[in-house]
Amino acid sequence: MRSATICLTCWLLLSSSFGGSNATSLTVPPEPPVWPETFHAVAVQNRSGSLALVDLYYEWQRGRNANLIHSQLGTTLYDIEYTNHTSYYFNLEEGTCRKITFPVGILTPDWLANATYLGTENVDAHDTHVWTKADGFIKYYADVHTGLPVRWIFFDGAQFEILSFVVNETLPDADWQAPSYCFTDKSQKLLHNTVLMA
Ligand SMILES: *[C@@H]1O[C@H](CO)[C@@H](O)[C@H](O)[C@H]1NC(C)=O
Ligand SMILES: *[C@@H]1O[C@H](CO)[C@@H](O)[C@H](O)[C@H]1NC(C)=O
Ligand SMILES: *[C@@H]1O[C@H](CO)[C@@H](O)[C@H](O)[C@H]1NC(C)=O
Ligand SMILES: *[C@@H]1O[C@H](CO)[C@@H](O)[C@H](O)[C@H]1NC(C)=O
Repeated sequence: MRSATICLTCWLLLSSSFGGSNATSLTVPPEPPVWPETFHAVAVQNRSGSLALVDLYYEWQRGRNANLIHSQLGTTLYDIEYTNHTSYYFNLEEGTCRKITFPVGILTPDWLANATYLGTENVDAHDTHVWTKADGFIKYYADVHTGLPVRWIFFDGAQFEILSFVVNETLPDADWQAPSYCFTDKSQKLLHNTVLMA
């Protein structure tokens, strides 16, 4: 009891003296990065130990976003998303397609605005600023010097290590096109889903 009381007192003293003397010298947290309107990033995706190499193409002005998910020693899943809330998930090798309607469209370039700054951390041998957004929906790590993303982690544990990030690199139009079997009545009826995003 006694030591607990002392510690609490110490803590109160320490926190009030730090709060008082440091209030003016505290550095303002850095602004979260704003995405360029067009880029191509390559990332290693780890979902519960299941690995994939992902090509992410973000084309804000064209209203589209693509994830080409190349599973380790497996096939490639195309995840093609449009601003109009429609996404197509298809696998050309397996001949499968799923159409999903999202309540939100693709991310805006300033989607990290108002994120909570968590400080700095060294990840993947890079010094990074760390932010979190929407009650831990995502943690985002950006290189302190370049502002480029180094890692992001979703609330469900899916983790992405960013290997490259090239502004203005695009995916040819033909590669965005969902295969015809995504548009058959059967496919629409059987595979149309609505999922909710947090
Ligand atoms: C992938 O994530 C799991 C935890 O979900 C971890 O145990 C494993 O080491 C990670 N693999 C790689 C290659 O980072
Ligand atoms: C959204 O746009 C895509 C690509 O142009 C199109 O295939 C899809 O039908 C559109 N969805 C809606 C609901 O308009
Ligand atoms: C950030 O907060 C401002 C003020 O509340 C709001 O207008 C804006 O839409 C927010 N931006 C994002 C991307 O959340
Ligand atoms: C990307 O393209 C935009 C618009 O054409 C241009 O203003 C910008 O300088 C380009 N950025 C790079 C890094 O090439």
